[in-house]
Amino acid sequence: MRQGNVLSAESVARAAAVCVALALIVAGCVQAGLRVNTDDRHPAHFASPLSPLGGDAAITDARDWTGRRAPLIRAAFQARIYGWLPDADGAIVGERRTIRTTNYPHARSVEEVTVRLPSASAEDILFRAVVFLPQGQHGASPVVIVPNFCGNDAALGFSDGRLNHGAWLPERCRTFSNRSVTRFIHGQNIIRPPFERLLRAGYAVVTFYPGEVVPDEPMRAAQAIARLPEPTRAPKVGAVGAWAWSISRAVDIVDADARFDHGHIAVFGHSRFGKSALLAAALDERISAVIANQSGRLGAAPTSRTIGEPLRALTRRFPHWFPTVAQGAVADAAMLDQQSLIALIAPRSILLGGATLDRWSDPVGAYQGAEAASDVYRLLGRQGLTQASIETPDYSADITFFMRPGRHGIRDVDWTATIAFLDAHRSTPRHAAVTP
Ligand code: GCU
Repeated sequence: MRQGNVLSAESVARAAAVCVALALIVAGCVQAGLRVNTDDRHPAHFASPLSPLGGDAAITDARDWTGRRAPLIRAAFQARIYGWLPDADGAIVGERRTIRTTNYPHARSVEEVTVRLPSASAEDILFRAVVFLPQGQHGASPVVIVPNFCGNDAALGFSDGRLNHGAWLPERCRTFSNRSVTRFIHGQNIIRPPFERLLRAGYAVVTFYPGEVVPDEPMRAAQAIARLPEPTRAPKVGAVGAWAWSISRAVDIVDADARFDHGHIAVFGHSRFGKSALLAAALDERISAVIANQSGRLGAAPTSRTIGEPLRALTRRFPHWFPTVAQGAVADAAMLDQQSLIALIAPRSILLGGATLDRWSDPVGAYQGAEAASDVYRLLGRQGLTQASIETPDYSADITFFMRPGRHGIRDVDWTATIAFLDAHRSTPRHAAVTP
């Protein structure tokens, strides 16, 4: 009994110390975050994606953009930053099974499908996707593809014992308490995207765990990348490029299924998956809208700005995300910066999300990058970013910027903005590709 009391006094003291340490860390982060996101002493002067590039003359005509400059920039991003994506596409659905659940009353059906390359054997599965179709939808449904962070069972909020399939998970996803801490830090929706909200709003959803294709851990990632189909050129992708490739494989199965509206295929990616979602949209024109929430360095944030996560810190912490050439991106930024990645998505719709206390993402820089990318939208007869300031999102514009208070993560308001943006673009016909 006495021992119990002593122990509990000790644990109270320990808990108090942990609380103080946490409070100090949070206070530090808040301060750093405030400084990061309000410090605009370094106004960006980004080159327009239309200005002369290397030996390539300035672009003044839509056909030159589509036929000449865009392919050149697509190649440059793969050669210098993300690596060349595997040269294999047209993924197909293998097995299907219905998931019996009462958790999603607005779903007409929830099914799990295995996705593989046509050349692969039935056991050689790339990933499993969970496909939700909304109730009461007449005709093909607009769809949102959502790569998830902790596996399909955690994303659905339950396991029928067969959903995870033994996929490797990072520490923060492994136990209930670790997932609770992750949710506390990065928001309720980081692990469980709000499928029911999307279904209620009339959207089909396809979710999958990119870690099934390439695990988010250096050794395992290297092995998984070595097993991917070869690209046509070197260097090979890192994990971010491989995840972008897997997003396009999810698009393959959507594109082959008449239950989906092929003119309205959106991808939602947060942070590391925001980087992948932007790259996927830049390379895959079937994606009609992309939501890149707090995508940060080598996402929407320009490399030429010194605000936000330094590139060196990113490549040191996550050596498996990019091929080694990406370490030269700072030196290359005068020629190739992230506004050109955003511009490759023109004339399709983009929502960029930022948070005031996010130390990594440099929302101000991303906003200015979107302004520079708007030159390309205007060349293609559209407008790009039209909002008056970073705080006043115009959801019906080609590019919307949504800035909210708070830390890095996915909160309800991020999805509220996403649904407002998707709704605003729902009646937009598929943008006709500008062909040379
Ligand atoms: C890390 C990384 C960021 C990334 C973020 C995330 O913090 O340094 O670049 O955006 O993880 O994916 O949550």
